[in-house]
Parts: sequence; structure tokens; C-alpha cells
Amino acid sequence: MTTHNIGELNPPNRLMLTPGPSSMDPRVYRALATPLVGHVDPWFRGCMDDVQVLLRKIFQTENRVTMPLSASGSGGIEASVVNTLEEGDEALIAVNGTFSDRMAIIAGHTPAKVTKVEAPYGQAVDPEDVRRAGKGRKIKIVGFAHGETSSGVITNIDNFRKVAD
Ligand SMILES: Cc1ncc(COP(=O)(O)O)c(C=O)c1O
Repeated sequence: MTTHNIGELNPPNRLMLTPGPSSMDPRVYRALATPLVGHVDPWFRGCMDDVQVLLRKIFQTENRVTMPLSASGSGGIEASVVNTLEEGDEALIAVNGTFSDRMAIIAGHTPAKVTKVEAPYGQAVDPEDVRRAGKGRKIKIVGFAHGETSSGVITNIDNFRKVAD
């Protein structure tokens, strides 16, 4: 196959309404057209510091360990679960759709004991069910999908935070 008649990449400008990739602000497209800098370059370290400051603002946290991951969403789930759970740990995963179930499956590949607390499709898991499931046990992580995009259900983080505490 020859390549001589394949032109410059020129994708159409679509309004993206899918839950995953969605329309980007033109400022993001402009940033993508700026020069590439290696990840060990001193300039990049300063840039990463700025990214962390901005991420903390978006996620309303002061956690020092706030960083972007060069991975898909599933890679993000895997990084957080697999780096946290060890032999002897227990995890409670609130499952109410495809992506929280994926978290439970990934956690199931670790040596930790994983308990699913489920809700029917289209509903959030009741934090009181999570409290009951964890009562008297030492739980290392309580996992859930904040935005379970397979059904569009939001889980209220505050209520889960209280149960975890
Ligand atoms: C809430 C949520 N978690 C995880 C994923 C999986 O992401 P990826 O397909 O990038 O692995 C998605 C994808 O749409 C998602 O919406």
C-alpha cells in the first residue's frame, strides 16, 4: 500500500457528547500544538508542579500526592487499587455499574480480601450498607465510582467519607 495520497490529518470539529472524551476548550488544542519537552527536562519539572497546583484546585484537595497519570481511566483505577492493597488487607468496593465493578475485579486480582457492596443499576450504593459491611473490620480502602458513567449516577463523596472515617 502506498502512502503518497494520504493527506495531512484534518479531523472534523465534532460536538462530543459521550461521557468519556468530550469537547475540549480551544485553549487545550492550542496547548497541544506547543513544543514537546522531555520528561526529564528541568522545565518539565516546573510545569508538573504547576499541573499539580491546578489539579488540587480542580479536585478541591490539599493532598500533596495529587498527580496526573499517563493512562486510561482503567489504568487510573488499577494504579490506585493495586498500589494500595497488600496481603492481609481488606477492601470494600461499592458496585453500582460497569466501572465500579471493574474496580472490584481489579481489586480481586490483588491478594487482599475484597467485599462488594452492591446497588441495583441506576442507583447509588447506600453508604449505610457500606457501614454495615465494614463494621468491626479493619478496612484499608472503601472504593466507589464518583461518577458511574455507565448509568450516569453520582455517588455523594461526603457520605462515604463519613462512613470511612
Ligand atoms: C467512570 C469511568 N471509569 C472508568 C472508565 C474506563 O476508562 P478507559 O476506557 O479510559 O479505561 C470510564 C470510561 O468511560 C469511566 O467513565
